[in-house]
Amino acid sequence: MSSVSPLVSCRAIRKTYNHGEAQTPALRGADLDIHGGELLILAGPSGCGKTSLISIIGGMLDADSGDCKVLDKNIRTMSAQQRARFRGQHIGFVFQSFNLLPALTAVENISVPLLLQGVPRKAAESQARIVLESLGLASRADHSPGRMSGGQQQRVAIARALVHEPRLIICDEPTSSLDHDAGQTVMETLRKVARTAGRALLVVTHDPRIFCFADRIARMDDGRVISIETHSPKNFLS
Ligand SMILES: Nc1ncnc2c1ncn2[C@@H]1O[C@H](COP(=O)(O)OP(=O)(O)OP(=O)(O)O)[C@@H](O)[C@H]1O
Ligand SMILES: [Mg+2]
Repeated sequence: MSSVSPLVSCRAIRKTYNHGEAQTPALRGADLDIHGGELLILAGPSGCGKTSLISIIGGMLDADSGDCKVLDKNIRTMSAQQRARFRGQHIGFVFQSFNLLPALTAVENISVPLLLQGVPRKAAESQARIVLESLGLASRADHSPGRMSGGQQQRVAIARALVHEPRLIICDEPTSSLDHDAGQTVMETLRKVARTAGRALLVVTHDPRIFCFADRIARMDDGRVISIETHSPKNFLS
């Protein structure tokens, strides 16, 4: 794992949000590497900068300074258009607030990343159904988000991040709306995905029930990654 370059490499990332006079420092020199084949959990208290850091890695937010390489590409120096294309191809992102399109059904929502890559609708929708089924939600395939519970919407958002088989999948609190069994199903699916050669998962969570699925747990506090703990292999035999 250590002989190849990491899938994600962040160094000295800084970010301050400015609203008029008010300045909120969110990241104060965060470092993080993520290797191919691993599921890395990012944990830490509310407001410590987790969403800000993963948004920078996912190309949705620009840092003030520091380096962020994803798949050996410097995501900070790409144009907006290059970044959007790169993201569409290589990154799957599950937002803390799901961000599903309300007018579309579950299957249609999940198909979007494939349609953007030019996959024909029928093939995209059949792939979407397969992923939805693996997350235990086949029965809601043709429902729109407004007719689903929070936990069901969350699984649709996860399916949408997986459907185009991106190399890097980033999930912000993917089990926050799920009960124990649904949370375990989602994490087992995500762990299998991480085991696929050359792919990696970055999962932000407060949920200690899912720590056992991680290969490593990075802890953040006050805008920095303050420790990284490696799990023993017995915890993630599938
Ligand atoms: N858009 C924004 N404008 C201004 N300040 C922001 C914005 N987004 C985040 N912040 C601030 O930046 C800091 C880090 O926020 P961030 O959302 O990254 O934390 P977090 O670790 O994801 O928290 P949580 O666990 O509650 O989701 C916090 O102090 C927050 O108030
Ligand atoms: Mg957050």
